Amino acid sequence: MAAPLAPWTYSNADVFELEYDAFFLRRWQFVGHVNEVGEPGSYMTADLGRDNVIVMRGKDDVLRSFLNVCRHRASRLLEGRGSCRGVIRCPYHGWTYTLDGKLHGVPREGNFPDFDRSTHGLHEIQLEVFHGLVFVRVRGNGPGIADEFAHSGRYFDLYDVANYVPCLEESTQIWNVNWKVAWDNYLENYHIPVGHPGLNRLLRVTDEEEELPGGVSYGTFALKDKPSKVEVERQYQEQFHHANARVPDELKDKWVQFGVTGNLGIDMYPEMLDIFQLIPLGPAKTLVRAAYYGHRDPTPEESKLRQLNIQVNDPVNEEDRILCERVQKGLQTTGYRPGPLSSEESSIYLFHDMVRELVPVTALENCPATGQVAAENKRLSVNP
Ligand code: FES
Ligand SMILES: [Fe+2]
Repeated sequence: MAAPLAPWTYSNADVFELEYDAFFLRRWQFVGHVNEVGEPGSYMTADLGRDNVIVMRGKDDVLRSFLNVCRHRASRLLEGRGSCRGVIRCPYHGWTYTLDGKLHGVPREGNFPDFDRSTHGLHEIQLEVFHGLVFVRVRGNGPGIADEFAHSGRYFDLYDVANYVPCLEESTQIWNVNWKVAWDNYLENYHIPVGHPGLNRLLRVTDEEEELPGGVSYGTFALKDKPSKVEVERQYQEQFHHANARVPDELKDKWVQFGVTGNLGIDMYPEMLDIFQLIPLGPAKTLVRAAYYGHRDPTPEESKLRQLNIQVNDPVNEEDRILCERVQKGLQTTGYRPGPLSSEESSIYLFHDMVRELVPVTALENCPATGQVAAENKRLSVNP
């Protein structure tokens, strides 16, 4: 096994740019659920970092995705989620686009000499739906999203994710960390006993776990029977057994967790799933998005369990933020060299291998001279 990534790769602005292209523009990014854009004209937008995308359902019922930028002078077109009647209208000078992205109207078009509308439509990007979950890819080609999940996609059938709807309000948080620090943390359970005492009272890591070649990994946790001494955790344990009737036997008493393509966690519970999505804002700044999807007709037990879940998991999330920010600070320490990783942290090795493969300069132990990172990356890409 190779060594973990060198500390300099967690704060370098040039590496951040290369990673943004390789991981966030060239790999599938989660946007939302098809049931959020069920009607013609309904749309949702998503931040990918500096880029923002629109997912729009056309009048022809086809789902398409576009970069969220006006072809005139770059205004963002749409915000959040909503519905367009007829056309997408730019709030700046009023250019309008049809729902399938063609330029439709230009105020005082005669003032644009030799103007060709047909070459000024919105920039369409790739979109795929996986069990109702909508993914987009801005650049490049490669395997479809279903290929990345391989056989683990069956879990999404078992939970009936295709029929989910948003079930709790989304939230975002800023963590002062490089996105890889947060992802390394998401990938390993070694920190649970010390870092998350509450989670440790509730769950036991099972050996049902797998790394898939496409970069997706998954693992399962089993709920412990011993009643927790903490009220809300005990309530969750009690309620859990009344609310798991919908899932097949093999998934009862379990949480299933997916790590997808470097920045998306999908945590599946009997009562809902939650999304943990990392959106890179800078070398040491990451937006963490939490979203929740579940059956549209929850039983009273499921509704109660969703509330308890939030009360159990919000503190866990806060613990992770603090742990990760401590790591980000520690990584800057002069002369620090990474220690060994345990077998419980093997997913980190595979993730780091993927980073080295997609951004070869990150394999170097020391940072190249100022201004040389991109050139060195190019040289290593051609000549590893
Ligand atoms: S920037 Fe959109 S119409 Fe001018
Ligand atoms: Fe954690």
